Amino acid sequence: MAFYLVTGVAGFIAARVAEMLLAQGHSVVGVDNLNDYYDVRLKDYRLARLLGETGWRPGGDARRAQYAGRQRRTAPHGRFVFENVDVEDLAALEKLFREFQFTAVFNLAARAGVAYSLENPHVYLTTNAHGTLNLLECQRKFSVKKMVLASTSSLYAGSELPFHEDQPVNTPLSPYAASKKAAELFAYSHHKMHGLDITVARYFTVFGPAGRPDMSLFRFIQWIENGRPVQLFGDGKQSRDFTFVDDIARGTILAAKPVGFEVINFGGGRSPTTLGEVIGKIENALGKKALVQGLPPMAADIKATRADIAKAGRLLGWQPQVSFDDGLAATIAWHRENHEWLGAVN
Ligand SMILES: NC(=O)c1ccc[n+]([C@@H]2O[C@H](COP(=O)([O-])OP(=O)(O)OC[C@H]3O[C@@H](n4cnc5c(N)ncnc54)[C@H](O)[C@@H]3O)[C@@H](O)[C@H]2O)c1
Repeated sequence: MAFYLVTGVAGFIAARVAEMLLAQGHSVVGVDNLNDYYDVRLKDYRLARLLGETGWRPGGDARRAQYAGRQRRTAPHGRFVFENVDVEDLAALEKLFREFQFTAVFNLAARAGVAYSLENPHVYLTTNAHGTLNLLECQRKFSVKKMVLASTSSLYAGSELPFHEDQPVNTPLSPYAASKKAAELFAYSHHKMHGLDITVARYFTVFGPAGRPDMSLFRFIQWIENGRPVQLFGDGKQSRDFTFVDDIARGTILAAKPVGFEVINFGGGRSPTTLGEVIGKIENALGKKALVQGLPPMAADIKATRADIAKAGRLLGWQPQVSFDDGLAATIAWHRENHEWLGAVN
C-alpha cells in the first residue's frame, strides 16, 4: 500500500480523492491552509468525514475553521493524518517530506475561483504557482518522483471546441488561468531538468455533494431551495461540460501512473449543459420555481466548454460513468440531507 500527500485536502475534489485513496487501503497525509475564501464549515465537514468524526456539528463561524491550528489530527484507523499547512510555506512542507516517504503527490491545493482572481490576483500567483514550485522542489530534494497536478479547462479560453490537450493555451482570460498555466510550466521544467513524472489533470466544471459554494450549481440549488433570487450572469446560454466529482477523483487517482509528462483532460465528454438547463433541472427536482435575476455577463467567463477525453481513455482507461442527471440527483440529495446547517452557508 502506498503513502500519498494530498494538498488542499479540505477542498471539494481533494477530499473525495483522499476518501477514495483511503477506501483503497492507502495512507494519506492531507494538508490545507483552511482559508476563508468560502465558508469554512464546508471544509470542516469534509475533514470531519476523513477523520471519522461521526458526531461532527458545524461551528457558528464561517471564517475560522474548527480544524485550524497547529495540532496534528489523525483518524482512528491511523491511515489519515491532517496538518494545517500552507503550500506557500516551504519549511513546513520540507518538514513533512522529511518525516514521511511519500509515493506520490496529488497537488490540488489552489485558489480556484475565476471571478475572485480578478479582484485579488496576487494570492493566485503565490498559492497556485509558487505553492506548486515549493512542492516540486520538495519532490526533487526528497526523491518523490510523481505529481498529479490539478489544472483547468479555463486555460482553453478562445480555443475551438472540443478542447484538446494539444491546443496551445497561451491566452488565459483570468489570473486564475494564468496561474494554473504557470504551475503547469514549472512542472514541465522539473520534469525536463530533474526527471519528475507529472500528470497535469485538466478538470472541466466539477460538481457533486459537498461542493464549492462559490460555484453556480451549488448556489442555484441553495437559492432555489430557499426561495432566494437566482443571480444569473449573462443569458444562461453559457454551457459547461459538467463532470461528477466521483469520476474526477477516480481519474485523478488513475493519473498517478507513470507517464513522463502528460496533460490529460477530465471532462464529462458529452453534450454540454447550459446554465439555463441546469436551473430548469433543479426546478424540476425540487418542485420549486426559480426567481431569476439577470446580471451582465462576466468578462472572464468562457462561453462554452467541451472536453475531448479520448486521451484519458487511451492512457488511463478512464471514462466518466455518472450522467449529469444522476450526478445532479445525488447532489440535490446531499443538499437536502444537510439542509439544516447549509441554510447558514452563503
Ligand atoms: N471544481 C472545479 O470545477 C475545478 C475545475 C478545474 C480545476 N479545478 C482545480 O481542482 C483543484 C481543487 O479544486 P476544488 O474545486 O476542490 O476547490 P476548493 O477550493 O474546494 O479546494 C482547494 C483547497 O485548497 C486549499 N488551499 C488554498 N490555498 C492553499 C494553500 N496556500 N495552502 C494549502 N491549502 C490551500 C483550500 O483551503 C481548499 O480547501 C484546484 O486546483 C482547482 O484549481 C477545479
